[in-house]
Amino acid sequence: MFDESKRYFVDRRLVERIKATGHSNFKSYFIFLRLEATGKELQNLINALTVNETYFFREDYQFRCMVSRMLPEIFLRKKKGDIIKIWSIPSSTGEEPYSIAIYLLEYWDEIDEWDVEIVASDIDTNALEAAKRGIYSERSVKFLPPHILKKYFKPLGNGYYRISDDLVSAVNFTRVNIVDRLETKKYRGFDIVFCRNLLIYFDDTSRKIAAENIYDSLNPGGFVCLGHSESMSRISSIFKVRKFPEAIVYQKPLEENV
Ligand SMILES: C[S@@+](CC[C@H](N)C(=O)[O-])C[C@H]1O[C@@H](n2cnc3c(N)ncnc32)[C@H](O)[C@@H]1O
Repeated sequence: MFDESKRYFVDRRLVERIKATGHSNFKSYFIFLRLEATGKELQNLINALTVNETYFFREDYQFRCMVSRMLPEIFLRKKKGDIIKIWSIPSSTGEEPYSIAIYLLEYWDEIDEWDVEIVASDIDTNALEAAKRGIYSERSVKFLPPHILKKYFKPLGNGYYRISDDLVSAVNFTRVNIVDRLETKKYRGFDIVFCRNLLIYFDDTSRKIAAENIYDSLNPGGFVCLGHSESMSRISSIFKVRKFPEAIVYQKPLEENV
């Protein structure tokens, strides 16, 4: 699943887990992992192997593109009363899905006329817990315009900020492995998927599976946003490339097999 270049990182984190669980070598740790019925250590290992780097308003040109280009196209296929569904996967510690919610509230004129559902998923349960706690460091919020920081965050006085309860309850956080077909099967009918800064860590096979799972989660005409160093064209040709002035995004064709 990991690209070969991440080998050193994986080895180091694995050694840390072997030590933390009191095992003397990889073999005995591996047997323990296989036999442990609760799967608790497997989740601890997954949590140790993730890279959670993220911050508010990261690559915000895509949020601008969402409001000015993607949503107006999506409306053409919706009727009043329909729900707009947005999936942030991987959501890490929550900065991305909360940024999407803030962006819609601040910069989208039609916010009062549509119901929006934001689902945020990640494989790392520690990251999801942090997202639901909603406490962020100065580093995390440093790209937020001051008026937005003031409006949606409460300073805790120690360099940390608590995000508003309204935003926490506006996002539905769930644990999902994007390369697991069974887990992603429950996620359907999305209009926009943000899958940013994840595929760079994967090998080619996992990238392809992730792309297919995203494809199946989208409505026809739905959009995918990747991180700036990621490109769907190199992974799969099932999406159409859409070049908007703000950003290049990918789109599930309106008709299958087009
Ligand atoms: C660098 S963060 C990106 C967060 C956010 N999308 C952004 O761009 O700021 C990568 C996240 O991918 C998550 N991740 C790694 N493998 C995953 C998988 N198979 N399924 C879902 N999430 C995964 C990690 O737990 C981590 O939180």
